[in-house]
Amino acid sequence: MTYKEKIDNSNLPKHIAVIMDGNGRWAKGLGKLRIFGHQNGVKAVRETLEGTIELGIPYLTLYAFSSENWHRPQKEVQALMELLVSSLTKELPLFHKHNIRLNAIGQLEDLPVDCQKALSQTMDATRDHTRCTLTLALSYGSRKEILHATKTIAQEIQNGQLDIADITEEKFAKRLYTHDIPDPDLMIRTSGEYRISNYLLWQLAYAELWFTDKMWPEFTREDLFLAVLDYQKRERRFGKTSE
Ligand code: FPP
Repeated sequence: MTYKEKIDNSNLPKHIAVIMDGNGRWAKGLGKLRIFGHQNGVKAVRETLEGTIELGIPYLTLYAFSSENWHRPQKEVQALMELLVSSLTKELPLFHKHNIRLNAIGQLEDLPVDCQKALSQTMDATRDHTRCTLTLALSYGSRKEILHATKTIAQEIQNGQLDIADITEEKFAKRLYTHDIPDPDLMIRTSGEYRISNYLLWQLAYAELWFTDKMWPEFTREDLFLAVLDYQKRERRFGKTSE
């Protein structure tokens, strides 16, 4: 039986979040430049997206560029931004074919103008698609996101639009970049690193975490299916007992 055949379709995660790590190390291992790793990382993105669609999982979020990634050499940053723009253009037919809505979270105003333009055009073109929401975290840092939500709430209180006593977890979550998507049930990280790296800190509160030693360019839909199978073996209690 294949991994996919073993998956219980009645107990799928609704939202999978991924930290795509190891592009640089994978390329270096082959004696190539880091950007070669990112280019091959795009193939793994396609595999993951198609695997997500095959299973019928409605939300996929990918950590494509962190707020800390701006500190990388300018050449690498530029190459990543160019790769993003070209991938968005190239993958639009796939988004239409599979009814995928593109979404983006992060400090998008810090991205190069052509990148912002490509993003908003692709988001507009796919806004009515309903099968899967693909969210790209770009110039994203979770602490910055939480601070942003806090400042929004503080402003609303100052304006007299909100009472301190009325601040709830739900209302706070509505001020995060992820306000219109559910919290992830499963978080996958590649490259043998066991960290969250400032990714969706609020939203991952109850997520199952799954790690693999594979580098991101080596990740295939079979790995995704294995992660989902392992997820299904775990007992999620949300802090309660199992009785
Ligand atoms: C981490 O590997 C990967 C990134 C910082 C970028 C991820 C980007 C892509 C996969 C390509 C573009 C994405 C889309 C959505 C089209 P790393 O460079 O940190 O690897 P290392 O830890 O080995 O240095």
